[in-house]
Amino acid sequence: MSLTLLKENLATELEDARRRTLALLAPLPDAALTRQHSPLMSPLAWDLAHVGNYEDLWLVRGAGADAVGASYDHLYDAFRNSRAERIKLPLLDPAGARSYLVTVRGRALECLERVELGSGRPLFEHGYVYKMVLQHEHQHDETMLATLQLMDAPGYQAALGSSVAPPARSSTARRGSEVLVDGGPFVMGTSSDTWAYDNERPAHVVELAPFWIDRLPATNRDWLEFVGDGGYHDRRWWSAGGWSWRCHAEFEHPGAWQYHGTGSWSIDRFGHHRELPLDEPVQHVCWYEADAYARWRGRRLPTEAEWEKAASWHAPSETKRRYPWGNVAPTSELANLGQLRFGPAPVGSHPSGASAWGCEQMVGDVWEWTASDFLPYPGFRAFPYREYSEVFWGSEYKVLRGGSWATHPAAVRTTFRNWDFPIRRQIFAGLRCARDA
Ligand code: AVJ
Ligand code: FE
Repeated sequence: MSLTLLKENLATELEDARRRTLALLAPLPDAALTRQHSPLMSPLAWDLAHVGNYEDLWLVRGAGADAVGASYDHLYDAFRNSRAERIKLPLLDPAGARSYLVTVRGRALECLERVELGSGRPLFEHGYVYKMVLQHEHQHDETMLATLQLMDAPGYQAALGSSVAPPARSSTARRGSEVLVDGGPFVMGTSSDTWAYDNERPAHVVELAPFWIDRLPATNRDWLEFVGDGGYHDRRWWSAGGWSWRCHAEFEHPGAWQYHGTGSWSIDRFGHHRELPLDEPVQHVCWYEADAYARWRGRRLPTEAEWEKAASWHAPSETKRRYPWGNVAPTSELANLGQLRFGPAPVGSHPSGASAWGCEQMVGDVWEWTASDFLPYPGFRAFPYREYSEVFWGSEYKVLRGGSWATHPAAVRTTFRNWDFPIRRQIFAGLRCARDA
């Protein structure tokens, strides 16, 4: 791609991302943007201004221009202020945040016009820093959706008016069906994807034993069996950490489920209540729950290497795919991404998006918890800043893969790594089971 065309594409993508961010928040009154809805989440107006401040840091100052709002840096630095504390800061009000974003964007676009993308400076090579900032905004959109799901926002989804009809289901994959992934080497991570974060790098060969993995993610129907079988009260299925979480947190079903007695369940989706959709992938379960569910089923969570091999490796040609179905960009037929539906699609809805091994819905619908801790690949180097990945390495965080219905298509690929604490369930996360062969 020519550098001029790359610049035009980046400018368009920046505009699209901003339109989406603003549209997500548009139905809400100011009071809903400035309140703290959950100690787990920031006030929405914080996310909004933080997105602008990140752009101010990387696309304005990073490109050599003067800061728009250097005095805001300490307010919107995620490391200086925990999510629970942000409400106490003298934050910009929603109008102030919006106008900050407009000014930053204007200056960032001026910089984009004159910056050299092919100069050999790693930060700008292939437009890397723009791709990083774009993905950052997309990720915060998903975070804001998690906040919106937690808050009391009756009719929010209707106000957005963008719920799409469920796709036709024509998969042949049946419940409980699994595929055998051959043992042997595959290439994990990437050294060539120009969108990849530092934690996805470098590409390296990993040797795996053969394993079985489910064709489909676990569904609400599956989870209901676990609940009905007393899974939440049976110590046998839980890890030590999981059982202490379970006893302390007193949850007995996934987030956003509601029980009405005599076997009747509903879900609350952005303030819209409906019958529990049995064939949709389960979401709003934490790692401890996913791990316990898998053990109850006589299975386990896949490691992240297993997940990535099942999602990306085309064994006959010994090549790696950017998406399960190949290298072409996602469409609404291939995967449920980009918040088109405001929920996961029923299992079997995306047979054409299957991986080479036959696993469906690996990208989109729900993030999938893996067994793995968030650790660096051999040869990792922090780039361009330590606080994106490096400071999180360790056994405190578990890795999630594949993106959810809320993830923007530009912020996911088969090498993409997400991570969170094993107790977190406000994210759009479920699982798919595996076992040794
Ligand atoms: C990759 C989703 C774990 O939200 O903490 C946002 C993404 N990094 N701003 C997070 C991120 C900086 C990150 N996750
Ligand atoms: Fe951020």
